[in-house]
Amino acid sequence: MALLSIHNVFKSYFLHGKRIDVLRGVSLDIEKGELVSLIGASGAGKSTFLHVLGTLDIPAAGELRFDGRNVFAMNDAEIADFRNRTIGFVFQSHYLLPEFTALENVAMPALVQRRDRAQSYAYARELLERVGLGSRVEHRPGELSGGEAQRVALARALVLKPAVLLADEPTGNLDPATGEGIHQLLREVNRDLGITAVVVTHNEVLARSMPRRLRLVAGQVTEA
Ligand SMILES: Nc1ncnc2c1ncn2[C@@H]1O[C@H](COP(=O)(O)OP(=O)(O)O)[C@@H](O)[C@H]1O
Ligand SMILES: [Mg+2]
Repeated sequence: MALLSIHNVFKSYFLHGKRIDVLRGVSLDIEKGELVSLIGASGAGKSTFLHVLGTLDIPAAGELRFDGRNVFAMNDAEIADFRNRTIGFVFQSHYLLPEFTALENVAMPALVQRRDRAQSYAYARELLERVGLGSRVEHRPGELSGGEAQRVALARALVLKPAVLLADEPTGNLDPATGEGIHQLLREVNRDLGITAVVVTHNEVLARSMPRRLRLVAGQVTEA
């Protein structure tokens, strides 16, 4: 059974009396442990698709199954709980809290969940070491480079040990070499932690470095 299974998902936006059909019957299976890239033109609906996959957005029609569970059949509280336990997000902007250190930012989701403090900080430190920032744990976001801040955001996305990592143009604000470093890290995290990951990117070269490639065109997701 696929870890993530999307079936016949439709999503439209209505704005100023106009309707934009973004997802038009998307169906897709993603197996446990896969590392998938998703490319598509700006405005094609990549973020919309990732938000549906991550339950941040509920589609007008269609199903999302996680390990066989019908996710959109759950109530709002159950979906929020499912999202917290299962999915880690990385966005184009790091959204780190400026007044907290890298270590505090990474530990924050675990502390909010009232996990054990010492264990949370220990795991946050381990993750920062994994992303190559063992020497930056006490830095605040303003004292980090763009690439470093994005590595902290990646570590934060991993602190609750999600089964699935969803990244929406995580290298969109970075120069190509720094971006490749982030993609390399995503490959390592996928391989070493066994996390299933979907990475939206504009960069065809980076997309091609992923084992499976998808493309979003005209509201449909196809293998690229
Ligand atoms: N909240 C919204 N309200 C109205 N239209 C939206 C909204 N969000 C996105 N759209 C439109 O939906 C389309 C897909 O957007 P998006 O998923 O962000 O594309 P991508 O991430 O591929 O650039 C775009 O045409 C965008 O303008
Ligand atoms: Mg987008």
